[in-house]
Amino acid sequence: MYGTIRVELSSERKAKPSVDTGLAFGKYFTDHMFMMNYSEGSGWHDPRIVPYAPITLDPSAMVFHYGQAIFEGLKAYRSPDKSSVYLFRPDKNAARLNQSCERLSMPSIDEAFFVEALQSLVRIDADWIPESEGTSLYIRPFIISTEAGLGVRPSSEYLFAVIMSPVGSYYEEGIHPVAIHVETHYTRAAVGGMGYAKAAGNYAGSLKAQMLAKEYNCSQVLWLDAAEKKYLEEVGSMNVFFKLGGEIVTPKLNGSILDGVTRNSVMQLLASWGMPVTERRISMDEIAAAFANGTLEEAFGTGTAAVISPIGSLHWNDQTMSINVGQTGPLTERLYNTLTGIQNGKIEDPFGWNVRC
Ligand code: COI
Repeated sequence: MYGTIRVELSSERKAKPSVDTGLAFGKYFTDHMFMMNYSEGSGWHDPRIVPYAPITLDPSAMVFHYGQAIFEGLKAYRSPDKSSVYLFRPDKNAARLNQSCERLSMPSIDEAFFVEALQSLVRIDADWIPESEGTSLYIRPFIISTEAGLGVRPSSEYLFAVIMSPVGSYYEEGIHPVAIHVETHYTRAAVGGMGYAKAAGNYAGSLKAQMLAKEYNCSQVLWLDAAEKKYLEEVGSMNVFFKLGGEIVTPKLNGSILDGVTRNSVMQLLASWGMPVTERRISMDEIAAAFANGTLEEAFGTGTAAVISPIGSLHWNDQTMSINVGQTGPLTERLYNTLTGIQNGKIEDPFGWNVRC
């Protein structure tokens, strides 16, 4: 499509982290990375796998000034018999990458080529896939604008790169329930903005509230809608689900919420168990009323990095709502076990989600 992927193997292999000491999220990187450049006229060209190394850019490169930067996140797993390596639903990431490109006026990438690039890189660094329970190889594709110049307009040059990191749990809490602060002042994204895109700027804008949440002993922020600060959106690093008196609900995609791959997978799993999820507007008033009358049964977040993370409590205004006495609920646990079982190849994959490398 964009030419044969050129491979330059690293002459040195880095020491791998010991999984026994715990794998902090995104701290270690494999020996190689994928890169490909875009320029107007030539399109995407020079796909290559090269030793992992710093990238040199002109200080005026547009990404530093106007923030055309998008990314994706997905994971690779080794099958229990160690004979195969799989990517989890890479086609979904390819499609979402292109939605982000479209929103930020960046050039799209052929989706089949995107998957092929990932497969080639994972095959080369497959010995970095960790094998302990709860670990995987996290893959981070990203695109940045690289043209030198300070005029505000879409760049004419871009870099697409893929780096990989062996990871354990995303949250320090591990698989234990997280405490979440419901943010009532700052906004993550508004309808018409770029909340549905995996744009770096969405994350930059969320950091201040995330720091403030620590004052309430919360590790994450649950965002509300920008217009009324009434309806639940997402937690930046994950989508959210609630079990309210038997009904399973998640905020409806409205343009300001990320269309999570794990969110979609959980909805398919629940539907196959005869437990359809209602996608709709959910207000904090409704959550607080459910808490008050005892029907706020379970809450959990979904995300590639976060997997399925139980939510143990919500801090909203002056109120702290403990959910399922701060313990992981049975539905959350079943979803975690089934999803990670499919991803690890320990459970049959009836949906055809795993793609062999
Ligand atoms: C992911 O789940 O892959 C994410 O991108 C969330 C976060 C690590 C930024």
